[in-house]
Amino acid sequence: MDFSRRLSCILLILAFTWTLVSCNIKTRKRREKGRLTGLQRQDVLQVLLNNSSYNPRISPDYEQDHATIVDVQIYVLSIDTVSEQSMDYSMNIYLRQRWIDPRLQFVNLSKALWLEIDFKLMSLIWVPDTFFRNEKKGQFHDVTVPNRLMHLYRNGTIYYSMRLSVLLSCHMKLQKYPLDIQKCPIKIASYGYTMENIIYRWIAHKPIDYNEELQLSQYTLLTHTLDNCTKTYKETGSFSCVQANFILARDVGYYIIQVYVPSVLIVILSWVSFWLDVEAIPARISLGVLTVLTMTTQSSGARASLPRVSYVKAIDVWMAACLFFVFASLLEFAYINVLARRRVPYRCFSSPDSFDNTTENNGITDSEKGDKPKLARKDSKGLHLYGKQGARYIDRISRYLFPLAFIIFNLGYWLVYYFVDM
Ligand SMILES: *[C@@H]1O[C@H](CO)[C@@H](O)[C@H](O)[C@H]1NC(C)=O
Ligand SMILES: *[C@@H]1O[C@H](CO)[C@@H](O)[C@H](O)[C@H]1NC(C)=O
Ligand SMILES: *[C@@H]1O[C@H](CO)[C@@H](O)[C@H](O)[C@H]1NC(C)=O
Ligand SMILES: *[C@@H]1O[C@H](CO)[C@@H](O)[C@H](O)[C@H]1NC(C)=O
Ligand SMILES: *[C@@H]1O[C@H](CO)[C@@H](O)[C@H](O)[C@H]1NC(C)=O
Ligand SMILES: *[C@@H]1O[C@H](CO)[C@@H](O)[C@H](O)[C@H]1NC(C)=O
Repeated sequence: MDFSRRLSCILLILAFTWTLVSCNIKTRKRREKGRLTGLQRQDVLQVLLNNSSYNPRISPDYEQDHATIVDVQIYVLSIDTVSEQSMDYSMNIYLRQRWIDPRLQFVNLSKALWLEIDFKLMSLIWVPDTFFRNEKKGQFHDVTVPNRLMHLYRNGTIYYSMRLSVLLSCHMKLQKYPLDIQKCPIKIASYGYTMENIIYRWIAHKPIDYNEELQLSQYTLLTHTLDNCTKTYKETGSFSCVQANFILARDVGYYIIQVYVPSVLIVILSWVSFWLDVEAIPARISLGVLTVLTMTTQSSGARASLPRVSYVKAIDVWMAACLFFVFASLLEFAYINVLARRRVPYRCFSSPDSFDNTTENNGITDSEKGDKPKLARKDSKGLHLYGKQGARYIDRISRYLFPLAFIIFNLGYWLVYYFVDM
């Protein structure tokens, strides 16, 4: 009993002294280069991070004349909403940054290739003060713990990734709406460090990476372009910035179904009027007014979700043209109605007495035989444009003229907006 207690006491003391000695050795061995390669991983962190010479409040190359180069990569998880109304879009991304902090090398401390760092330890390591220049709203994800990852490589490279939801402003040009292609940027820059201390760079391999299941509701992601948005401010200096532009093409399908096809049908409906009789005044009037009203409602509905920009959009041109066409067919009726009631100038072919008969029978009556028909025939070209016959003649012409004009307009419209860049 006594012996075993003494033995355990001795063992304890031995263990304690060994710990002390090894601790001492550890610190000493750091100075003796090359020999200290067997440190445990957590001790490496202890040595690296709880060493008074490492200060996370100082950037890695603060004393050097060169800046710390931060390589950036974006992994796009989803692009959720693209709003024309508020001119922004929201994204869910992994923002990955990589830089070298020479103070955190552990080549001589351990054989481990890299260390994974817990999120609670991350506050002990310097990270760049990255922000998005065109951000409106941003959010970290904290369920169940902050969604961050940090890897420390033996040569001092730090790989830092976090999950973010950001709402970014994107100034859209809606001249070709809804046949438009938008360029939505994301600008990554440092807020506090000028180019003296931080320079951003897109990572060489796949600077923008996408989730394979990435799908946008109203757009097709065509491609992306990379840019340099480094900016110099007079007051504070120049700040490094990298930019990626997502090229988004609007899916026209929705608008074809919701806007273009219905309005084409309404325009066609307005032409039905030309096949109705000149006498069918209520039918033709109601058809004309109905199509004009429907067109007006359609056009205001199609533009409801758009901001009130002052320039003319493709959809405005379309709606205005359709409205013009239905309105023109209503006007055509008004014109031929007046024409049908207009008196045929009897001087041409008839005597004042037979005037009443001639108008009712479109200028050609049985009573006009003898030398008078000659006169009528002589002027028969002008006769087209008078009375009911003239009205019917104009209706007949309209049956071809209106569709032809509409087809020509369509050709021009689609050619201009689909193929011409604005
Ligand atoms: C590691 O040890 C080698 C020599 O063994 C030395 O040249 C190098 O500077 C050391 N690295 C660090 C970070 O102490
Ligand atoms: C960190 O080092 C200081 C001395 O520099 C020491 O007082 C402190 O206990 C250490 N902290 C940890 C968690 O080891
Ligand atoms: C921290 O590093 C310095 C040398 O860079 C060394 O002198 C000192 O002993 C280290 N301290 C700890 C607690 O490891
Ligand atoms: C540091 O190590 C990582 C991982 O092994 C490697 O990808 C990177 O190129 C190294 N960087 C330098 C500057 O050697
Ligand atoms: C961006 O442009 C600035 C000068 O305008 C230049 O100093 C910097 O190196 C450029 N950055 C990249 C990543 O090319
Ligand atoms: C009008 O024509 C009818 C026959 O269509 C004839 O009976 C009548 O006399 C004509 N009236 C005049 C004023 O010519």
